[in-house]
Amino acid sequence: MRGTSWIRDPSLAEVGERRIEWTKNFTPVLMRILERFRREKPLNGVRIGACLHVTTETAILVEVLEEGGAEVSICASNPMSTQDDVAAALAARGTRVYAFRGQTTREYYECIGHVLADEPQITIDDGADLISTIHKLYYGIESEELKYVRPIIGDLDVRELLGRMIGGCEETTTGVLRLRALARDGKLLYPVIAVNDAESKKLFDNPIGTGQSALDGVIRATGMLLAGRDVVVVGYGNVGSGIAQRLRGMGARVTVVEANPIRALRALMEGFAVESMKKAAAHGELFITATGNISVIRREHFKLMRDGAILANAGHFDVEIDKRDLEAMSIKRERILPCIDMYVLEDGRRLYLLGEGRLVNLVCAEGHPSDVMDMSFSLQALSAEYLARNRGKLPIDVLNVPRELDELVAKLKLESMGAEVEELTPEQINYLRSWEPGSK
Ligand code: ADE
Repeated sequence: MRGTSWIRDPSLAEVGERRIEWTKNFTPVLMRILERFRREKPLNGVRIGACLHVTTETAILVEVLEEGGAEVSICASNPMSTQDDVAAALAARGTRVYAFRGQTTREYYECIGHVLADEPQITIDDGADLISTIHKLYYGIESEELKYVRPIIGDLDVRELLGRMIGGCEETTTGVLRLRALARDGKLLYPVIAVNDAESKKLFDNPIGTGQSALDGVIRATGMLLAGRDVVVVGYGNVGSGIAQRLRGMGARVTVVEANPIRALRALMEGFAVESMKKAAAHGELFITATGNISVIRREHFKLMRDGAILANAGHFDVEIDKRDLEAMSIKRERILPCIDMYVLEDGRRLYLLGEGRLVNLVCAEGHPSDVMDMSFSLQALSAEYLARNRGKLPIDVLNVPRELDELVAKLKLESMGAEVEELTPEQINYLRSWEPGSK
């Protein structure tokens, strides 16, 4: 049974619609794909369940999929990231939307339940919560979340759902890691495309998109000047490196904390101070985590921090800054501004946590700039099309975005920006393919 939308405030639809229209100025590649989808209808009759941050860019992706003939149901991929005006605009257009900002855990999973009740044939995730719920239902892995999902899906038969399933797409690093763990355990139940791993995604969205939007979140929440600040970036992967570089560009004094020796060496050779978390904890004024790991800032580090230290997270889940430790060590917690919680420790020191330790770019700002989401979501649309066109033919595994789609997105983006790629001569192509030529 297909449900009706569950959103915060339908009266926000017009504002949402205006913002979505504005965003289209910055998503030329998605608009090209939309035109083709409108003509070709590659997703005709396919039901898509999306679990994504509900933003203006996501609304455009939904529009592209719907123009391609899909029926889309969407829930949020984070309890705090939904833009309520966008949710309202989508609902007014007739998309089934189960998302609002400030969900409890129960509501978050109930919304996932609603998307499942709409019986998706393609899942699109950002963080793998939708697909992992399907897997938990199938394998009977009891969890708190399933307690909330079950009453919503009623007598939905998960085997039948899986029988009609075409495939899935995953947007982010954390989600891909979860899916690879499922595949490694031999438990993955349908093919999933790791959109995150496409080059036209991970080389741009992760460092450049998060690099800018995480700082946007910190600045909007605090209004602080970054120049001259002692900032500690925890994690120097695709995301952390982008944040550290942009911080440096704004004049911050940046220290990197990294557990992987190769990444740590890269950070050092790219000019950053590299320290242990304990050492960095004692001097940082602002901390930004981007590791994808749990409790990277915890009790032993909070103990060392200076009064007034600010903590923000740019990783997918709110587990990187250990909130339980912070709460246990505090005599008082107060929301002093919409995006700032003040924790007062026993000795009187104050630590400030931004956006509840959830994705600072989406909770305290509006996520990545549209120009970057243009590429990521073009890959999502093309991957959904690829799944539909290859229905029943793909292996059950975590699959790469086909190279030609990855390059197509880069080419279309370049074209939209007025740039050209160089054509290789036949002689050059041949040279690159042969092993005979050597030293002369
Ligand atoms: N993830 C990061 N930024 C985003 C955005 N603007 N829209 C959707 N998902 C995002």
